[in-house]
Amino acid sequence: MTSEELRALDKAHVWHPFTQMRDWNAPEYEPLVIVGGRGSVLTDADGHTYLDGNSSIWTNIHGHAHPKIVQAIQNQAARLAHSSFLGLTNEPAVRLAKKLTALFPPGSLPRVFFTDNGSTAIEVALKMAVQYNQLEGRPEKCRFAAFQGAYHGDTAGAASLGGIEMFHGRFTSLSFPVMRIATENDLAALDAETIRSLAGIIIEPLIQGAAGMRLHPPGLLRTLREWCDRHDVFLILDEVMTGFGRTGKMFACEHEEVIPDFIALAKGLTGGTIPLAATLTSEKVFSAFLGDYAEMKTLFYGHSYCGNPLGCAAALASLEIFETENTLEALQPKIVLLGELLRDMADNEPHVGDVRQCGFIAGIDVMTKKGVPYPWQKRTGARVCEAARRHGLLTRPVGDTLVLMPPLCFTEEELTQAVGALRAGLREVCGG
Ligand SMILES: Cc1ncc(COP(=O)(O)O)c(C=O)c1O
Repeated sequence: MTSEELRALDKAHVWHPFTQMRDWNAPEYEPLVIVGGRGSVLTDADGHTYLDGNSSIWTNIHGHAHPKIVQAIQNQAARLAHSSFLGLTNEPAVRLAKKLTALFPPGSLPRVFFTDNGSTAIEVALKMAVQYNQLEGRPEKCRFAAFQGAYHGDTAGAASLGGIEMFHGRFTSLSFPVMRIATENDLAALDAETIRSLAGIIIEPLIQGAAGMRLHPPGLLRTLREWCDRHDVFLILDEVMTGFGRTGKMFACEHEEVIPDFIALAKGLTGGTIPLAATLTSEKVFSAFLGDYAEMKTLFYGHSYCGNPLGCAAALASLEIFETENTLEALQPKIVLLGELLRDMADNEPHVGDVRQCGFIAGIDVMTKKGVPYPWQKRTGARVCEAARRHGLLTRPVGDTLVLMPPLCFTEEELTQAVGALRAGLREVCGG
């Protein structure tokens, strides 16, 4: 099919996520049809190439079509693409579970529950936390605290935790009530009864992604860990975005040497190839669910594709690449360069307000002038990204915050090019 035919069929039949479909279907709009990816570069059906500036919605780690991951998926597909994980097991899932638990201090998070995506990784943590407390004879401990501006996914439970009015406000009738906190001081203000009702506190460690790459204050994770220990409340870390090297360490929680009670992993788990998620927890949680079948302690939760062998084989290959290519070590100078490029942009571009960096993640606020935002309806961030496309960069903003979150394999040259494309796009849309 030609790209024209594909575009026409897409407009006739497909409904895209987080997309105003009237704009998409407008005759003058020509969506890109992506046909290939290799390393840091994506190719469209018309033969144009683009740097993948947001790691294909924050998923890709080692670049597209990494030969080791491709080979692992091909080998596994030839053997077994899928079999049920309900009552059966498979080798890639078993091996991956062992490998994931070994990424944390011995014995700390030895139990792994596989699901399909970031939202379901959160859902199962919530259900485990609630059921655990029921099994321990304190069913009143069933509420959750989450941060303002949080984003934990779009399924109803995960969305209940979300604190972004634009995404979550419309669905409050489907949501369970959540205690909303902005800072650690809000915890100090909670009364004893409220604390007794809390099953867990959930946080995106170090940085909130969908809120616009907002950094949490240093030390917050440590403080939360201590508070949760004092009050017998679970600490749930959502490392769906931050996991697998994005922040410069394998997991964001390592920066503050914090071990959570639950950690949710997805996006980068398979190197950004196949949908797969994992929720890790402690032996204490796991063992509370053990008993005679008739005691009804079983966790009645699961999805058809839990433990999918293709995803697990891809994840194993991705973790192996971290070791063989010294991915995290190679990343450190690129993180330093990203910082320099961002500072230069903030100092010299009149339409850049704040810039924020956490490892290999950057958020750049577009403003009419320092401190004065554009009206959000003008979609300035989106228009800057559309312009950056013409300079060879694909990325997607969060509101008027430009996001640069490339695959960890980006070279220094690609990083410099990507920031150059953003600056060129910015000048085209906002002026010099
Ligand atoms: C921090 C965080 N948690 C959860 C999710 C939801 O993941 P998914 O889109 O795979 O359901 C996202 C997605 O962007 C995320 O950034």
